Amino acid sequence: MCPKPLPESEVVTASAPAKVILCGEHAVVYNRPAIAVPVSGLRVTVQLRRNQGGERGLRLISGDLERYLLLTAPEKQSITDALEMTVRLVLDALQRPLPDMTATIESQIPVASGLGSGAAVSAALGRALSAALGSPLNNPALNAIVYEVEKIHHGTPSGIDNTVIVYEQPVFFVRGRSIETFTIAVPFTLLIADTGLGALTKVAVGDVRRLYETAPERIQPVLSAIGDLVVQARSAIEGGDLPRLGALMTQNHAYLRHLTVSSAELDRLVEAALAAGALGAKLSGGGRGGNMIALVTSESEPSVRAALNDAGARHVYKTTVG
Ligand code: MEV
Repeated sequence: MCPKPLPESEVVTASAPAKVILCGEHAVVYNRPAIAVPVSGLRVTVQLRRNQGGERGLRLISGDLERYLLLTAPEKQSITDALEMTVRLVLDALQRPLPDMTATIESQIPVASGLGSGAAVSAALGRALSAALGSPLNNPALNAIVYEVEKIHHGTPSGIDNTVIVYEQPVFFVRGRSIETFTIAVPFTLLIADTGLGALTKVAVGDVRRLYETAPERIQPVLSAIGDLVVQARSAIEGGDLPRLGALMTQNHAYLRHLTVSSAELDRLVEAALAAGALGAKLSGGGRGGNMIALVTSESEPSVRAALNDAGARHVYKTTVG
């Protein structure tokens, strides 16, 4: 089938959500399972249109990310820019030349905050570009591209972020295995609180790697305990046992502290949420800064939200899972 080119007047729009890791981050890099859920209320949206007035090249514009990029030249030998890498991989997959188009990227997801901003930008851009070229990529093909781009952000990503973001559904993820989802017996609500401190996942993942290599006898049992906890968390979700899920999340935070990926700010928010009645709380994602999550009921939500704000959260988002 011959792909239909984008008419001059038409705009193609695509988007992708943020994510949080419910449990199992870092251990997932070492082949233990982890659970992640999309945050559909926080999104990256990309609009693509053909350039007006014969302008050449692909312009990528994002006020939110403070980025402006004009791609005109043939592919460079090594690409280190995530936006450019996304474009080149999509064009390679579709065997298409660089189009004369303009992409406007709007993101509601704070960067370097553990919410998957990088993967969401790649997913939305890849989706919009392939659609604008008349050959929308399916989820497995898009997921493979976003995973490649994730290596720029993360170094050695497990693949959980791109998977939950591209498929936009809760995932029980094991590195290298095909996507697995699960039943959510009782919908549950998370408050997501931002420390306001940017932290690079790549750095935290690298530090855990060094710890793993220098003291494997100390780190292996922690990784295995996290893996066991994730399996129990899945059972708690499937059985609708939210107090149990909360307790497991809080236990997971303690293990992440052993892995040195928490921080005073994250610990303060976790403690504040628990003291205010959250069923459980933990850092989410790479850690060190970024966001934490608290499992709340409709009764505890207002007090936990207030406690998080009092404890210094820059933003508190809410998401319901299931
Ligand atoms: C980041 O969201 C999750 C980590 O486990 C890294 C990864 O899985 O690639 C810290």
